[in-house]
Amino acid sequence: MSEKIKLHDKTFKLFIPNGEIEKAIDAVALRLNQDYKDCTDEHPAVLLCTLNGAVIFAAELLKRLTFPLELKACKLSSYSGTSSTGVVKTEVPLPRHLEGRRVIIVEDIVDTGNTIVNMIEQLKAHQVADARVCTLLLKPEVYSRDVKLDYVAMEIPNRFIVGFGLDYNELGRNIKDIYVLDA
Ligand code: IMP
Ligand code: MG
Repeated sequence: MSEKIKLHDKTFKLFIPNGEIEKAIDAVALRLNQDYKDCTDEHPAVLLCTLNGAVIFAAELLKRLTFPLELKACKLSSYSGTSSTGVVKTEVPLPRHLEGRRVIIVEDIVDTGNTIVNMIEQLKAHQVADARVCTLLLKPEVYSRDVKLDYVAMEIPNRFIVGFGLDYNELGRNIKDIYVLDA
């Protein structure tokens, strides 16, 4: 892994190596396996991956989860460049027929919380039985919303990061490690 990378006009430096990310995912998967062990083939959980950022995290989680589940996806976006626009756009709507289901939202990162609050509201309107949040990363200095974040793999300071699914204007998602804006 290189110490520094360049994406578009910006330079990023190594922040969280892949091994550390994988360990954090192991720990969160253990908790999920415990909490959802009563799911059955008749009543599987729904793993709701938020595209595009959570795709790698969701794949790594899937490999570790041992209870019956269905994988679904939706796409919301709120970021432009390196900051939040404050407006959440639904680009691919939530799947249908979620009534009565136990949903686990899989997010790459919770920052202002606008995205997650919007998703929880949409899921309530779908009358799900239960909706929990599982996020790879959280910026606790920024997050001040009421939605409980049930599973947080790692907390980071309020810095802009890329890699492991996260992008800077669509680049950097395919980098195995997490890099931080070098400022
Ligand atoms: P929120 O709605 O402000 O909580 O932002 C959540 C979304 O913004 C995430 O799902 C990411 O797509 C994006 N985002 C937030 N922080 C970062 C970052 O540091 N790097 C890349 N994308 C980010
Ligand atoms: Mg996202």
